Amino acid sequence: MSATLSIDYIQGWRRWSDLHHPANFEITIVEQFLDLKRNENTDIKPLAAMNILEIGCGDGRVMREFAPVAKSVVGIDTNSQVIEFLQSEIEQAFMAIISSNLDAANINVAVEKMSGTDLQFEDESFDLVLFPWSLHQIEDKQTALKEAKRVLAPNGHLVVFGLLPGGEYENAVAELGLDPGPQVDPVEAYEKPLIEAFGKIDDSLTISSKPEDKEFGFLFPDIETAISDWKWALQNWHEQSVQQEQLKTMSARMERNVRKDGVFMNISGRAYLCSK
Ligand SMILES: C[S@@+](CC[C@H](N)C(=O)[O-])C[C@H]1O[C@@H](n2cnc3c(N)ncnc32)[C@H](O)[C@@H]1O
Repeated sequence: MSATLSIDYIQGWRRWSDLHHPANFEITIVEQFLDLKRNENTDIKPLAAMNILEIGCGDGRVMREFAPVAKSVVGIDTNSQVIEFLQSEIEQAFMAIISSNLDAANINVAVEKMSGTDLQFEDESFDLVLFPWSLHQIEDKQTALKEAKRVLAPNGHLVVFGLLPGGEYENAVAELGLDPGPQVDPVEAYEKPLIEAFGKIDDSLTISSKPEDKEFGFLFPDIETAISDWKWALQNWHEQSVQQEQLKTMSARMERNVRKDGVFMNISGRAYLCSK
């Protein structure tokens, strides 16, 4: 893939990342989980003292949430394009710091091409391991969770953001006649493997558009932008050439999703906390 294509790919992915609403959703949930453990009088470090591993970091959206407040963040992914891009971005930031004589110790992020099922890290090297919307894509969940537990320090925590069917993105993909991705059952995909690896789940919460749940999703400023972002997703994530008919279907769907603050498409999922 040429450098230009690679940049288009990253820029399109970044656009979707910027649409996530509310912003900093994952860090809010992690803080909520850690506060719960603190209320149980467990000795929990502040995020500022934590070394964090993100498995399936994609374009670095979640790393960007945690990097300013954590001691260190390492992201891994099996997608070479995003890893190469993030490595060059980190290197450029590092060079900018060196050339302006600022404290290079502020660089507390690193990324590596690696699979969650075969972590190249020492035992007990992280205080917090995150699977943000990535575990459903990993076939051998048992090995990935066993590896996550191995690299967690004693009293370390694991947080999984598990994608579930029924979210607007998956529904829209299905309406276009495309594969909406794995239709996971939360018990089989997340709960059983987590209990097998960690003994128990300490807490969980549902992410959906119901008022009683945490709401999360993509918020487009208007229908026109939503259609243009969808075109990119169909071409790049679904490797489809976009048909006129599909754009009409998508436009009608977006009309149904208009609300006061824009065009909202919810994500359906469940977040889980486990402790070592
Ligand atoms: C839906 S994206 C989530 C990206 C990011 N965590 C976020 O929330 O924006 C899932 C990511 O998991 C990665 N992934 C899939 N299988 C993986 C594996 N075995 N090990 C590491 N990453 C994996 C994919 O390449 C993709 O970047």
